[in-house]
Amino acid sequence: MAVRTRREKSNFIVELDNPPVNAIGLAVRKGLHQALEKLKCHKDVSRVILIGKGDVFAAGGDLKEFDLPPVAPHLPDLIAQIEASEVPWIAVINGTALGAGCELILGCSYRIAVPNCQVGFPEVTFGVVPGCGGTQRLPRLIGIEDAIALISQGKPISSGKALAIGLIDMISEDPLATAIKLSDSTILNAKNICQMPSPRVTHGAIKVSGKSVSRNSDLVAPKKAIELVLKSADVPLAEGLKLERETFYELHSNEQARSLRHVIFAERKANSVQIPILDAESSDHVAVIGGGAMGSGIGYALLSAGYRVTVIESDSASSERASSNVLKLIDAGIKREYITQSDGLNYRARLRTSSDYAEIADASVAIEAVFEDMQVKKSVFAMMETSVADSAILASNTSYLDLNEIAGVVEDPSRVVGLHFFAPAHIMKLLEIVRGDATSQRALAAGFAIARRLRKVPVLAGVCDGFIGNRILSRYREAADSLLLDGALPWEVDQAMVNFGYPMGPYEAQDLSGLDIAYANRRRQDATRDPDRRYVSIADKMVENDRLGRKSGLGWYQYSASGQKQIDGRVEALILQESRREGVSRVEYSPNEIQQRLLSAMINEAADILQEGIAQSAADVDLVTIFGYGFPRWRGGLMHYADYVGIGKILTKLENLQEEDFVAWKPSQVLYQCVAENLNISDYRR
Ligand code: NAI
Repeated sequence: MAVRTRREKSNFIVELDNPPVNAIGLAVRKGLHQALEKLKCHKDVSRVILIGKGDVFAAGGDLKEFDLPPVAPHLPDLIAQIEASEVPWIAVINGTALGAGCELILGCSYRIAVPNCQVGFPEVTFGVVPGCGGTQRLPRLIGIEDAIALISQGKPISSGKALAIGLIDMISEDPLATAIKLSDSTILNAKNICQMPSPRVTHGAIKVSGKSVSRNSDLVAPKKAIELVLKSADVPLAEGLKLERETFYELHSNEQARSLRHVIFAERKANSVQIPILDAESSDHVAVIGGGAMGSGIGYALLSAGYRVTVIESDSASSERASSNVLKLIDAGIKREYITQSDGLNYRARLRTSSDYAEIADASVAIEAVFEDMQVKKSVFAMMETSVADSAILASNTSYLDLNEIAGVVEDPSRVVGLHFFAPAHIMKLLEIVRGDATSQRALAAGFAIARRLRKVPVLAGVCDGFIGNRILSRYREAADSLLLDGALPWEVDQAMVNFGYPMGPYEAQDLSGLDIAYANRRRQDATRDPDRRYVSIADKMVENDRLGRKSGLGWYQYSASGQKQIDGRVEALILQESRREGVSRVEYSPNEIQQRLLSAMINEAADILQEGIAQSAADVDLVTIFGYGFPRWRGGLMHYADYVGIGKILTKLENLQEEDFVAWKPSQVLYQCVAENLNISDYRR
């Protein structure tokens, strides 16, 4: 029974009981319909109390039903019946009420919530608008301005904020008892939303709409949601509800919604990997070796997940610097109100920095984040091995280096796993968990357990140069550099990729991370690089001219003292000089051609990655590209996008490009196989 009903004196209690989150699927809708029918037989009921079982009211509709044809009873009809009921309904919001859950409470006459629960309308993050009255009832209840802010951004708010804007009427530690005790006059005075006057469009509402549209300019759903909320001022409720339902169905099957749903399902799958919990005796103490840019971010992320953290540096001066790096992140967290002052104190109490490995003797996991240098990493792993217990897991944050070679210095390499965080490590959601040849299930499990606790998106990767993400990134940069040599300029490439939906193009991104890192990596690869592969040395010349990116004020762009990015004629001159030196006659590339080349290059590399088993699935590649590299989420990730374009089309493009450069554009066998078998790459299995 997904909905239970009971009498308590003159109260009729309707309880949603559909674990784990009381999703409003068919069973719940049927249960609500039965509850409404039963209510008709209870003539002496004075109020109906609608509550969720457990600590969630209802976290939304049932996503599993999203792609199925709608089946009666429909939620909009049930909400309309609740709203029209002669007996007033009181919503007891005992925990999270999102999406359809939040629309359900809008059908009630009165809303009482527990402190600190979340309410909101996340529908736009799924590429749709609320479809059960949210865009029409909410503005009538709280005004157009707040309704637009809440619905078009899709971010939930706390019950405190909900009370302040009038979405709920009361907060109570025991909302059920409060609902039962509520005086009859309070309930009689509570108006149903359908009786409220139409809202007015204010100057503030127009301003909020403009801001929201420009923030999400690529997304259709927020724009449509705003149009609907504004419409609530002009049309009767019934007409607005009809319009809303039509818009919901129109968006529901479009490409953006399909892509966004794909990402949500892929993310859920990644998070639901069954993980054996680490040994009971393992401590909550994690060591981080190296407290530079990455180590301090990892340390902060671990502190925010409740771990005790010790950062080990090479000497006491570096240890002081590491300490100040982490403390700065804590202070920034407090300043931006991500954490409270008392959280900050708590984090500081759990943080140690030192140059003495004896301090990490009881750590259950040690994560190395020192310089990207094989010899340094090997010596650090040797120290880690002798300093922690035999049962402790040894992890490396290397970006490109061979994890198997690193593990080779440890007596028991099954303890070694790669934990590849992304910069800034406390913000970026992706965590590549790298399985070496000897990595044990237990070491992998430790990686997944950390990812879960840090609320990261974990993706399992195999060992190769750059794993999944950086290997695709290297090919992206290589293809972009070829464009520079043959005719494009960095800002043209960047603009084309921003137009595609990336937050920034490859050259602006390099300026941010520093050109010297990729330079060092190319020097490492010099000895093994395929001599038949075209090598473009523009990026090397940039570094040799001290253009290291933002940190030196000069990179692919020049930066003003305030950090403003400007085009620099000297970069164009350097590129033209290189083209002349290589005897290249430059040609023009349209933004569309730039996009097609860079995307085809990445898709082709990712196809090889799938064939080699470096990534487990196309969906994992999608997660890596979205959560680590800024691929537009609404396009569903690199491989989802490839299927949308069509593998046949991509293969033809690659074959054409291969006439220009036989080695770099050689199509992956996986693409041939997909075309031959009429397969989507998302369905490819090794
Ligand atoms: P960084 O240069 O900012 O920090 C490295 C730290 O390691 C320095 O504080 C240094 O004092 C310390 N260190 C060096 N040798 C040591 C030793 N023997 N014992 C203890 N500490 C030692 O470098 P960053 O950027 O933090 O990179 C660290 C690792 O993370 C590298 O393997 C890098 O490839 C990887 N990585 C870097 C990313 C980035 O965007 N910066 C992204 C993902 C991974």
